[in-house]
Amino acid sequence: MSQETITYRPIGIIHSPFKEAKGSPIQGVFSRGAEGVVEVFEQFADGLCDLELFSHIYLLYDLHRAGRLSLTVVPFVDDQPHGVFATRAPSRPNGIGLSIVRVLARDGCQIRVVELDVLDGTPLLDIKPYVPYFDHRQSANSGWMKDPAGKQIAREADERFHQ
Ligand SMILES: C[S@@+](CC[C@H](N)C(=O)[O-])C[C@H]1O[C@@H](n2cnc3c(N)ncnc32)[C@H](O)[C@@H]1O
Repeated sequence: MSQETITYRPIGIIHSPFKEAKGSPIQGVFSRGAEGVVEVFEQFADGLCDLELFSHIYLLYDLHRAGRLSLTVVPFVDDQPHGVFATRAPSRPNGIGLSIVRVLARDGCQIRVVELDVLDGTPLLDIKPYVPYFDHRQSANSGWMKDPAGKQIAREADERFHQ
């Protein structure tokens, strides 16, 4: 198995209303319609052609402000520890964040989006369209979260995963 270092170059920056982890939504569905702008660097402009035809897109980004790594974490939505890979905790061995956001409009290299859970200034690594036929799984369950929609769970982050 290869243990090589892999280097990614950001393709842009995510501008969001959330300057600090504390109080930021733990997932986009809890963002209460928070809007932001995904700014893609000019050299990648041609790659955005037709992106605005999709209602939702995936953003993949560097969780650049996450703190100390632990392989077992107590996530925002539980009081019990879980393996970090069984959670969406922002401190992870490779700090890659994944969010589904709704596209409002694209103006050149600027994509206006809503339903953000990303901190302002986050380096953007990739964008992919959300395609219901590929991505929606009718039979999916929520693992240890069981029925999160039916429980009182945290909707905003605190500073446990940040320095
Ligand atoms: C629980 S994580 C989930 C992120 C993403 N939706 C995912 O599932 O990978 C969401 C929290 O990550 C934190 N966060 C967002 N952008 C970050 C960044 N660039 N660096 C560190 N933490 C960040 C915010 O505090 C936010 O509340």
